[in-house]
Amino acid sequence: MNVGLLGCGVIGGGVLQLIDNLPKEKGFKVVKVFDLPIKKDILKERFAENASEVCENSEVDVVIEAMGGDKFPYECIKTALLNKKHVITSNKEVVSLHIEEFYTLAKENGVFFMCEASVGGGIPLICSLIDSAKVDKIDHIYGIINGTTNYILTRMQKDGVSLDEALDDAKALGFAERDATADLEGLDMTRKICILSSIAYGGVVNYSDVYHYGVTNLTKEILKDINSLGYNIKFIAESKLVNDTVRVSVEPVLITNENSLNGVSYEFNAVYYNCLSNGLLGFYGKGAGRFPTASAMVNDLVRINDLKNPYYFKNEKLFKVENFKNESKYYVYDGIKGKIIDKLMDASNYKFVARIF
Ligand code: HSE
Repeated sequence: MNVGLLGCGVIGGGVLQLIDNLPKEKGFKVVKVFDLPIKKDILKERFAENASEVCENSEVDVVIEAMGGDKFPYECIKTALLNKKHVITSNKEVVSLHIEEFYTLAKENGVFFMCEASVGGGIPLICSLIDSAKVDKIDHIYGIINGTTNYILTRMQKDGVSLDEALDDAKALGFAERDATADLEGLDMTRKICILSSIAYGGVVNYSDVYHYGVTNLTKEILKDINSLGYNIKFIAESKLVNDTVRVSVEPVLITNENSLNGVSYEFNAVYYNCLSNGLLGFYGKGAGRFPTASAMVNDLVRINDLKNPYYFKNEKLFKVENFKNESKYYVYDGIKGKIIDKLMDASNYKFVARIF
């Protein structure tokens, strides 16, 4: 499958690297890359002078959009779909605004539109949500779906740094949006919860209808005050379907230590959604950053390919199978008292053993 890449920055550059490193026999090749002229020397013959060289190129089967922004990516994605290219994007802004049009155009043109990387970075969330929505009724989604602000809150809480200091680090690590206001004020999470809700409930949830309140004004003093009341703070998105109403908000919430979201730190995201038959499902992983996001896009690429060449398990490797007894400490109980030992020789020497995990 020949890939045309739009954008070769933090995410696009990661996608290029991952695809270039795939074994040749997998058959994926990046043939054209559109970016600023500054990248011409690095990209050489793959460099595209303009986006049409990617979106209208007869050699390109799949267009991967990793530019960010709204108007230009929208035009590019539309052109690519109309030219019967599969499209993969990580761009939550454009997906949240045009989700219906993109899926409709893809259907009309017999191609796939994939946006796994637009929510939750490397977490395989949207594919699961789509699967669940096909067979179940989803009525509740909530979680931490912005890596930058979760990173900032964690650093403020654990290291006592200010919001601005933590934000600078989040920017340096490639987590933040070009305009970090989108992270801090919850616009990024609003886009993401709209995408998840639209897919889960089967109706467009519009960005402009969603209440959001950010963490821009959070200070170390406020944090200390919140902690003194026995709470921690997390910045979350939540949506609930009640009959024909979707109740949705993006705002800071106070949680106690027992809340499962309390253990979600730094750029990690955690998302839960409730299905009427299957119950509550939880997803956890890196929600921002170059390679987690790029991996989600490459997985979309493989998914498109798998639809034509389904996956069948092959027994290709002969493994030696071991256990953890030689490399872990163990608690052993001899019937009278327990002790910790460095490695376990024989569990049958004891009345009970447990690995220190
Ligand atoms: N700025 C976003 C975040 C990037 O921090 O979650 C991933 O969508």
